[in-house]
Amino acid sequence: MSNPFPDDFLWGCATAAYQIEGSPLADGAGASIWQRFSHDPRLMAAKGDTGDVACDHYNRMADDVALMKRLGLKAYRFSVAWGRVLPDGIGQVNEAGLGFYERLVDTLLANGIEPLCTLYHWDLPAALDDRGGWLNRDSADWFADYGRVLFERLDGRVTKWVTLNEPWVVTDGGYLHGALAPGHRNVFEAPIASRNLMRAHGAAVKAYREIGKHEIGLVVNLEPKYPASDSPEDQAATARAAAYMNRQYLDPAIHGTNPAELADIFGDAWVDWSAEDLALAEQPIDFVGVNYYTRNVTKADDSFPVRAGMVVQPQATYTTTGWEVFGQGLTDVLLWVKDKYGDPAIYITENGAAFYDPPAASQGRVEDPLRAAYLREHITAVGKAIEQGARIKGYMLWSLFDNLEWSLGYSKRFGIVHVNFETQERTFKDSAKLYSEVIATNGACLG
Ligand code: BGC
Repeated sequence: MSNPFPDDFLWGCATAAYQIEGSPLADGAGASIWQRFSHDPRLMAAKGDTGDVACDHYNRMADDVALMKRLGLKAYRFSVAWGRVLPDGIGQVNEAGLGFYERLVDTLLANGIEPLCTLYHWDLPAALDDRGGWLNRDSADWFADYGRVLFERLDGRVTKWVTLNEPWVVTDGGYLHGALAPGHRNVFEAPIASRNLMRAHGAAVKAYREIGKHEIGLVVNLEPKYPASDSPEDQAATARAAAYMNRQYLDPAIHGTNPAELADIFGDAWVDWSAEDLALAEQPIDFVGVNYYTRNVTKADDSFPVRAGMVVQPQATYTTTGWEVFGQGLTDVLLWVKDKYGDPAIYITENGAAFYDPPAASQGRVEDPLRAAYLREHITAVGKAIEQGARIKGYMLWSLFDNLEWSLGYSKRFGIVHVNFETQERTFKDSAKLYSEVIATNGACLG
């Protein structure tokens, strides 16, 4: 079989601002909800771990880009910390904060690496949280105004933009279950936050069309749901789980509708969207960004609010975040997006795995065979989706570095580059060497 990856396939790595940058309040930046959350031992599962230093990327940016070049990356997906650019979330622009991203983009371009810029990877300015955050309908305007600042300054140098990273995680983790910032546990808030996030996405895309000339899209985390049995209960639970996680944001963004299952799932907490809200959310986008980590074999149960649970697979390998390794799910979900959402251009905007690494680096080597096997299996799965007609333009591995895994702190290592958090020494893991070869051969070395 010939190599499925087209010549211009974009191989890259992804990161997010709060997870790697450190110095979250430097140079006039405003605090984010993650600054508050990580410093609150009642909220943070990995108590004491914060983004204060992280990978110190804010101070080591130029060296880190040099390292990306050594790996051979063609693209780098990063996110902007909103509060560095607009310390209050709205109003006065902080040139020093904006300047950091301008330098990052210029350094990437000077090294032949294409930047993919995400506007929102979960670090809402705390000043906006004080006004209700995503529960406030004005958040759509706040977000579009913030987008405008970046589009005006960087469009052209940046040609691929992402509005939101994983709105599902923002609402499920941030407003429903409280495991992520801002740490609320309120079923009545989640559908309101979802609606405002998608209004904000639409408002930012509209703002982009007035200013920008390139591509903008939405990133969703997709986890294909397979019924545990043929029973009507398990089938219905699977449909609910898929609507909740996989369709909740793509349906309004692309079809201008809400999955009917959501009203059943949320009951009294469900909020209807006006025709205006739906129209705002449904803006033409240039690509769908898919983050894929695992699948879910689904059975009916009484878990709140979806009434669907996971069946553990006795034969499978699980990562240290408890996720089943299942490459076939990536092929399946890419083909599902193609079929259900009008054959859009797709970037895999995240894919990767946390595993325990051996105590590292003194010998300059980190052996991580499980991560390397995961990458082989999943990149091959992307190739299969391309062979079956999906329009996949690129693959951004999660993650370049070991980093702050949100409320789980530094306990979960996703990087292909090992980071010693005491010395900040970076060491290529074996998976990084594999990925370099994948890039150098345009995927052919896996075939
Ligand atoms: C997020 C990343 C996170 C990764 C692994 C995705 O949900 O976008 O920020 O580190 O998954 O959990």
